[in-house]
Amino acid sequence: MTVPHPIAMLAELTYRCPLSCPYCSNPVEMTRQEAELDTDTWARVFREAADLGVLQLHLSGGEPASRRDLTDLVTAAREAGLYTNLITSGIGLTEKRLAALDAAGLDHVQLSLQGTNPEMADEIGGYKGGFKRKMQVAEWIGKIGFPLTLNAVLHRRNLHQLPRALEMAQEMGARRIEVATVQFHGWALKNRDALMPTREQAREATQIVTEARTRLKGRLVIDYVPADYHEDYPKRCMGGWGTSGLNVIPDGTVLPCHAAQSIPHLSFERVQDRSLSDIWYQGAAFNAYRGTDWMAEPCQSCERKTVDFGGCRCQAMAIVGDAAATDPVCIKSPHHGALQAQADTHAAQGDAPLIYREMPGKQAEPAE
Ligand code: SF4
Ligand code: FES
Repeated sequence: MTVPHPIAMLAELTYRCPLSCPYCSNPVEMTRQEAELDTDTWARVFREAADLGVLQLHLSGGEPASRRDLTDLVTAAREAGLYTNLITSGIGLTEKRLAALDAAGLDHVQLSLQGTNPEMADEIGGYKGGFKRKMQVAEWIGKIGFPLTLNAVLHRRNLHQLPRALEMAQEMGARRIEVATVQFHGWALKNRDALMPTREQAREATQIVTEARTRLKGRLVIDYVPADYHEDYPKRCMGGWGTSGLNVIPDGTVLPCHAAQSIPHLSFERVQDRSLSDIWYQGAAFNAYRGTDWMAEPCQSCERKTVDFGGCRCQAMAIVGDAAATDPVCIKSPHHGALQAQADTHAAQGDAPLIYREMPGKQAEPAE
């Protein structure tokens, strides 16, 4: 097959984060601060990414504002010719820092929303006063004029706040909202009892999104990640493995998706040891599930195989124990019924306690 070049790169600059969201998709074992790539290495990686054909760079974490060199990193990315998007909780950003990011050429901000009021947001983020600070940051973002996407992460505890999240996106002048139902990867897997939406909530969310897309057409773009445990067909995860995007994690390891390290037989390479281009085109991990040759039945003879590429490899690994299996979300998977029953069992857990993410080197204060 002809391998396309990647269009987007997610740079997970650090796993440090002032919040402790129980749905965090970061791995359970996280890189410590001292193992993070330094500014110059990231700058080289950005240039290599641009040479490889990457157009959009998503600067993420953890909380990317925990990196004191964030402005320098944006400068380096812009010099490499990349479109830069900062994915942030807002905590750690000051007005001065945002102005510096603007001057450095930051193109876009994606602000996460843990809830639509302080009670919910601060409880879910595990950070008292976080909502208030986030609203202040949203105001500064509007004042500077950054194009904004609001990223509302929804689950059983806060799905009833979806209508308000849509209103807030409009009030903040966002052009886009990502309505993302929690995906259970990394730390989030520990919290399925606390966060799994009910089937009814999942159905209702889809209805609200469908109605809002019509009502707000031309004013607000709504991207929607449904609660896939309750769906009949899986998502096309990462746009297809090794097809359009790659992730570089804090220590320089390059991954086909953010949860790929949960697949134990894969080995990954680092930007310190090999060029990004070689890793993308020749790396064993990237070629493991690229295209359709690796698929077994029922995917191999399915008419949707180039639509969803068999769904999510990491979900197949986590639920079925085989990364090459059909994503159990799919109605054609022999594990689909068991997954749906499991989802209902998790969803019936009432007020199961939240297990907050723990991280090395927790850092709450903004770096100036
Ligand atoms: Fe997708 Fe495989 Fe299900 Fe077909 S059988 S819809 S390719 S996951
Ligand atoms: Fe890894 Fe979906 S998260 S393939």
